[in-house]
Amino acid sequence: MQGLELHAIDLMKRAGKYIRQKMDQAYHIEEKTNKSDLVTEIDQHVEDLLIKGILEKYPDHLIYGEEGRIERPDTLDGTIWFVDPIDGTMNFIRQKRLFAVSIAIMIDGELRYGFVYDVMADEMFHAIKGQGAYENGIRLDPIEDRPVKEAIICMNATWVTANRRIDPNLLAPLVRDAVGTRAVGAASLELAWVAAGRVDGYITMRNMPWDYAAGQLLIEELGGRVGTIEGADMSFLEQTSVLAGSQRFVSDVLTYVQK
Ligand code: IPD
Ligand code: CA
Ligand code: CA
Ligand code: CA
Repeated sequence: MQGLELHAIDLMKRAGKYIRQKMDQAYHIEEKTNKSDLVTEIDQHVEDLLIKGILEKYPDHLIYGEEGRIERPDTLDGTIWFVDPIDGTMNFIRQKRLFAVSIAIMIDGELRYGFVYDVMADEMFHAIKGQGAYENGIRLDPIEDRPVKEAIICMNATWVTANRRIDPNLLAPLVRDAVGTRAVGAASLELAWVAAGRVDGYITMRNMPWDYAAGQLLIEELGGRVGTIEGADMSFLEQTSVLAGSQRFVSDVLTYVQK
């Protein structure tokens, strides 16, 4: 491995250590937009740590992080780090597990590196464009091509209730036909689990680039596909739906939702 990825992995492991040290002490929690959209002072501090560590070594790189410590870029030109200091903040607060630090690095619009670090499991998933995807340094196998009827799907139950983004009647048959569904509560981890073959797909109507970009590269490096629920490519600058899995899974889901 070379400088950039070693630096990213080192920063993320340091962030993980900090989180583990602080998580059982008292910390401040704030509601952002609603009762399920929370931020803690630990999320903010970890984002600051990561930004500092990135800029110390790469002062001209751009950073697009969830907690808004730096202004978002307007275009995808240059080198952009998409940073989610704690993906799965609710899990972090309540379950004290199943949360991740997620970082993706894009160069001139192309995803080049993806890292998802499951802090409590000490599992580091990483992918380098053209060089495969790895779990704790061990190369992952290509994603198995399972259709919906043979799949375990990560999806939050919200999307099969009335909502503003999709007709729940389109998604309910997926839940009925699948082998099972899971809702982990941390998008980057759910995508990493697709890459690792623990589940077969991930579907959400609402993610930001720091949620999905790292997981996207993991999946793409293993032959899978990540796009929107309409089957389009990701834009990386705004909120989006995400449909991820093997090529077969994704095209099968599209036949359910494009009715
Ligand atoms: C959230 C989690 C959640 C997903 C949301 C994300 P956060 O990230 O990944 O699983 O459904 O869309 O915003 O806020 O915990 O970093
Ligand atoms: Ca959040
Ligand atoms: Ca977060
Ligand atoms: Ca997130």
